[in-house]
Amino acid sequence: MRIFKILFLFIAFQVSAQQGGMWIPSLLQGMNEDEMQSLGSKLSAKDIYDVNNSSLKDAIGHFNGGCTSEVISNNGLVLTNHHCGFSQIQSHSSLENDYLQHGFWAMNLDEELPNDNLYIEFIVRIEDVTKQVLEGVTDDMTDRAQQSKRGSNSAAIERAAKKEAWQDTKIKAFYKGNQYFLFVTERYTDIRLVGAPPSSIGKFGSDTDNWVWPRHTGDFSLFRIYADKNNRPAAYSKDNVPFKPRHFLPVSLDGVSEDDFTMVFGFPGTTDEYLPAVAIAQTVEKINPTAIAIRTAALKVIDAFMMVDDQIRIQYASKQARIANAWKKWQGENLGIHKSGAIAIKKAQEAEFTKQMKAKGLEAKYGTVLPELERLYNEIEDVSVKRTSFMEVFLRTNELTPMIFNLVQLEAAAANSEETFEKQRDANIGRMKGVYKNYNAEVDKGVFEEVMPMYADNVDSSIYDKTAFTNQESALKVLEGNSTEVLEKLNNDAAYQYLKPYIIEFYTTIEPKFQELNPQINTLEQQYMTALMEVLPKQRYFPDANGTLRVTYGKVKGYEPRDAVYYEPLTYLDGVMEKYIPGDYEFDVPEKLQELYAKKDYGQYTDSTGKVPVCFLGTNHTTGGNSGSPAIDAYGNLVGLNFDRVWEGTMSDMYYDPEICRNIMVDMRYVLFIIDKYAGAKHLIDEMTLVRPKTDAKKSKKTKKVKRKK
Ligand code: ARG
Ligand code: GLU
Repeated sequence: MRIFKILFLFIAFQVSAQQGGMWIPSLLQGMNEDEMQSLGSKLSAKDIYDVNNSSLKDAIGHFNGGCTSEVISNNGLVLTNHHCGFSQIQSHSSLENDYLQHGFWAMNLDEELPNDNLYIEFIVRIEDVTKQVLEGVTDDMTDRAQQSKRGSNSAAIERAAKKEAWQDTKIKAFYKGNQYFLFVTERYTDIRLVGAPPSSIGKFGSDTDNWVWPRHTGDFSLFRIYADKNNRPAAYSKDNVPFKPRHFLPVSLDGVSEDDFTMVFGFPGTTDEYLPAVAIAQTVEKINPTAIAIRTAALKVIDAFMMVDDQIRIQYASKQARIANAWKKWQGENLGIHKSGAIAIKKAQEAEFTKQMKAKGLEAKYGTVLPELERLYNEIEDVSVKRTSFMEVFLRTNELTPMIFNLVQLEAAAANSEETFEKQRDANIGRMKGVYKNYNAEVDKGVFEEVMPMYADNVDSSIYDKTAFTNQESALKVLEGNSTEVLEKLNNDAAYQYLKPYIIEFYTTIEPKFQELNPQINTLEQQYMTALMEVLPKQRYFPDANGTLRVTYGKVKGYEPRDAVYYEPLTYLDGVMEKYIPGDYEFDVPEKLQELYAKKDYGQYTDSTGKVPVCFLGTNHTTGGNSGSPAIDAYGNLVGLNFDRVWEGTMSDMYYDPEICRNIMVDMRYVLFIIDKYAGAKHLIDEMTLVRPKTDAKKSKKTKKVKRKK
């Protein structure tokens, strides 16, 4: 029985491998182009990526390195998610002007709000430079020597690459270092906030609905790119003018129905699709539970404070969202790995790999890769768990301990030279000022009291009452003077004294052990990737996400999360009202939206049945970083805005199962409806190009038929 199940699973893997994947835009010709067209796309590979002519890729920008955005007008208007612009919206918010709560709309260019440290980066060109990067790298070299050769080759290629003065270059590894690509990029830094709905629309459903379908969130915000008079990147200046893109996306009013083709074009961050079973098991059984437990403890405190204090709610909005987002994702990931049987499937695949490897006489070359990986994962387990605990407790959930963590590094820098000390001190002061902008010592202490016992036995939270670092003024005083003076003050500080030994332990035992084993794992995983492609060449391999521009495509599709339950792929405004809980912090609905709903004042933003669509599902393979990515229809128009995945499918970073992995997009008609009818910002709609590709296609079919009849 068991054998059959595993055999079945293996076959399922083969079939599932026919879908999913995040593809390199410059390599779509052939397989991907065919596949997309068989799914209904009318686009050619060149429509999507072209070096010599404008193409879809020219409208897609990396939003501050973590999200995606797209240009939707000839005046540099840019669309991304509400949660991607969240910290900018927060930073312009105060108790008096609470844009988080009430939304923000610039009614003309002058009202648009500039942002420090925000950029949008476009891809000018992508080139395969594998040969050049690997030149002179041979098997008989040590890992370190190989790495250094690849590094110096890369630096030389970047230096020699043809580019304009205002452009940049970078080289990224693909297929775990089996392939390399050069990216020429253009980075705009004058980016202004144009519009954001209130959180009760942009974050509707908050943590309860996050990572969950059915969904009713209007997760969008609008920005504008400004450039100098030559349309080139420039630092903020009031003389800058709206950017003229090489391409912007027309917006479709026709929307999508089940089975329609969609593609998502953006910058997925990280995936691990080729992990051995042992690694997935470790993530699910050890690493995720450790991190989840610590964040549960932290969130309990932060959420309670935010609920009762508006000042804290604004100050902690971004932090809370960041902590809660991964916390919930990991829980979904664990469930999905179990439900999809991913570990058994990987094991079956590894057995098949081993069998074929032997059959092909490649045992001498690859025979030890999997057993060695298994051994190393077992060996690294304890230190990985400990390191995860440290990261979560010391660096990700509270703010006093990361400050002290950085100051311990400052002390180390002082041993170097007075000059390095000075430099590090400036960096520390800059970071600390950022922290204190949104700091509440009571919340921080509360979090510390909850999380620290999960790391150590001897917890002393009285350090919060004694330390200088719960307050900007006293903190900066400690950092005044020469290094000897500063170090003396530091070592007399209660928090510093108490936390330093844990931080030293991290640097002297945890990190060295981890850094001894982890590169060995990386090397073996690279070999495993090479081996897989050589031993099972007919499988479909796509490179793991690495923060570079990718295309993923699929269809609009519902799914069956469990027995007897089927989820439709589209939600409507009616569903927003169904979820409405007056005054609730997650499910309140703004009065204006209720009025529009009551009067059915929907304008042109309905489907053919007169309802306003809100979100829809697709089989596009996405991950973090794809937030804000455009969902593009068969003709190259914008139909949706990617912002999430479904709970049952969040494990797709390690294992993509086409049965239950779905990405979630906001329907553009909801976005337009909110901009026009809710916010009264019709001037923004007028800036866009609205199209009706399906209606037009039907019309032209009809006229053809009529002609034929004659
Ligand atoms: N889950 C989505 C993503 O991974 C949206 C997050 C929005 N944040 C939130 N806590 N609701 O980024
Ligand atoms: N919300 C995610 C992001 O910020 C996208 C959802 C996902 O992880 O797929 O990129």
